[in-house]
This record gives sequence, structure tokens and C-alpha cells, in this order.
Amino acid sequence: MQTKILKINPKNPQISKIKQAARLLRQGKIVAFPTETVYGLGANALNHPAVKKIFKAKGRPSDNPLIIHIHDKNDIYLLAKDISEITEKLIGRFWPGPLTIVLKKSQIVPKITTGRLDTVAIRMPKNKIANLLIKEAGIPVAAPSANFAGRPSPTLARHVWDDLKNRIDLIIDGGQTNIGIESTVIDLSGKRPMLLRPGGITLEDLQKTIGKIDVHPFLKGGKLNSVFRSPGMKYRHYSPVAKLILIEGTKQSVNKKISQLINTYKKQQNRVGVMTVDKTFAQKADIVKYVGSSFDKIAANLFKTLREFDSKKIDIILAQGISKKGLGLGIMNRLSKAAYKKIKV
Ligand code: TXA
Ligand code: MG
Repeated sequence: MQTKILKINPKNPQISKIKQAARLLRQGKIVAFPTETVYGLGANALNHPAVKKIFKAKGRPSDNPLIIHIHDKNDIYLLAKDISEITEKLIGRFWPGPLTIVLKKSQIVPKITTGRLDTVAIRMPKNKIANLLIKEAGIPVAAPSANFAGRPSPTLARHVWDDLKNRIDLIIDGGQTNIGIESTVIDLSGKRPMLLRPGGITLEDLQKTIGKIDVHPFLKGGKLNSVFRSPGMKYRHYSPVAKLILIEGTKQSVNKKISQLINTYKKQQNRVGVMTVDKTFAQKADIVKYVGSSFDKIAANLFKTLREFDSKKIDIILAQGISKKGLGLGIMNRLSKAAYKKIKV
């Protein structure tokens, strides 16, 4: 299959081009498109063979469910049941935006889309291209991140091309996605709301809106055998080819450790990269990448930077940890999952 690329203006999307892509989705084809978080790989969520193509193209295990993207809030009543007041509150406050909610699924959602679960994850993206595409397609669009399974999520069309060229029908190039890490996933299908994946909307913001939220034990460092609410949790994720070592502690102790590790790994003939949040960082590695010091910047640059280390053939990435407040919780979650080793100093 030959993958086409269609450039669309993210600020003022050309409607004829959106219609072209929407037609492919209606025909059961798979199309990568930008959202405000990362690029997604979309298919008609209600069409079994179309959804199957997503799993095949990504090399994704069939028990890892997909998020369904909608353009109209009311579509949750078609896709889900038992919708509570809390759900309505969250949707009213955060949609469109980077919040995914898990609810009991309705009859019309095929089991392939939900990885055979009887719940369904739904989100309404804010990105203009995404929103118009779903609207023009006239169907709910199932879309995981448009990376090959296990790789860092794509924040540029070029990342999608690198991973999935000639495995999918179309890539819409709508520039760089602005948030850079995926949506927050909250499970509202049980008795109490539970955070399954920290992301673009912070836990603090969610708590301000609905009060107490349980945090899945796995996010607090629980072991792999703790009860899964989100099958995606058990897979290694976001991994660059290089081995990432995440180092947490005070600025001084972290820098000291990095300096030691640079020496150790260089002696063993490794190419060493450092990912830093400190503009004045001045140690000699093969590559030093400053990702920003604000959480917004770090999130926006994170996955792109991991891919850049790979393209520069780096063997070891030493990454500085950050605080887990606000967006920091989502950033640290992605770094932890990408890490081959974590060190606390
Ligand atoms: O920002 C995002 O959410 C991006 C863009 C494209 O919208 N999408 C995304 O999809 O990150 P994906 O498939 O890479 O991650 C979806 C996560 C997985 O961890 C999956 O296990 C979880 O959501 N999930 C999906 N359906 C679920 C369900 N019914 N119950 C629990 N977790 C679910
Ligand atoms: Mg993903």
C-alpha cells in the first residue's frame, strides 16, 4: 500500500482536503491525523474490518483498546450508557480537549474497538483538523497514537511517516501537535472515578471539578500484577531505541550522577546523550538536548527529542527527572515507561 501525504493548514483547514480524507475513513481506510496531543491513526470505530487494520498497521496487541474520537458531545449517548452527573460535569468543563473518559459501552460499539472490554474510551479533540475530519466523516473515529507499537508517540507528520509509511492509506500533515503528550484517561465506569493515565489535563484540574479521584496503583509505582483497569498500562511504551536512564533527585545530586554516568558509559564506548531541563547544563556528552524548563515546553518537546536521539545513533540517554505536579505527572509517567532503568539519588 502506498501512503499519501496531504498537507492541511491547521489554523484554517481547507475543507475540500478534509472531505477527501473523510471519504477515505467512510470507505473503511485508515488515516493519520493531528490532534492537540499527538497524531492519531483513525478508522471508522463501528466498522470491524477497518478497526482491524489499525491493529495490524501498528503491530498493536488486540487486547489494547482504542479511544473513540467524536466531534459532538452528544455522541456519548450513542456510544456509552449509564452516564452520570460527574461525567457530564467533566465533559462540560474539559471538552473539546485532552481528556478521555471511560464509560460502559453501548451495543453499537464493536468489541474489537474496545479490546473485548465492556467499557469504551471516548474523547472529543480540540484540534481543528481533527474536529472537522470527524464531522465530515459523519462517524465516530477510533484512533490510537499513530506510532508503531512501543515507539514514542508522533508529534509531527514525519514521525508517522517514519513508523508507518506504506502501512496506512493517508497521513494528514497539520504541523506539530501543541501539547505533545497524550490525553488524560479517567475511568468513570466504576463506583468512583479513577485516573488511568495522566496527560494533557492535570489531576489537580480534574479534582477541582469533581473532587476525590482514585489514582490507579500502577501509576503510583505499583507492580505489573496490580489489577489492570487499562490494558495499555502493561505494555512497555514510548521507547526510543537507545536505553533511557531516568535520574531523580535534587538538581545537584542528579547532575553529579549524570557526570559519573557519562564517564562510565563513554569508557564502554557508548554514545551518550543527555536530556536536560536546565538551560545552563554544561557537561560534555555526545549530545545534550535542552527540552525546556516549563512543563508545557517539556511536554511539547519530549517525544520528538527521544526520536532525535535515535536518529543521532545515541546508545544511552540520561534524562533528568522533574516534579510530578501538574503536567509533570504525565511527563514523568511517559519517561518512566520509556526508561530501561530508574535511579533515585
Ligand atoms: O491523546 C490521545 O489520547 C491520543 C490521541 C490520538 O487522541 N490517543 C492515544 O491513544 O493516546 P492510545 O491508543 O495510544 O492510548 C489509549 C489508552 C491506552 O492506554 C488504552 O489502554 C486506554 O487508553 N484505553 C482505551 N480504552 C480503554 C478502556 N475501555 N478502558 C481502559 N483503558 C482504555
Ligand atoms: Mg499510544
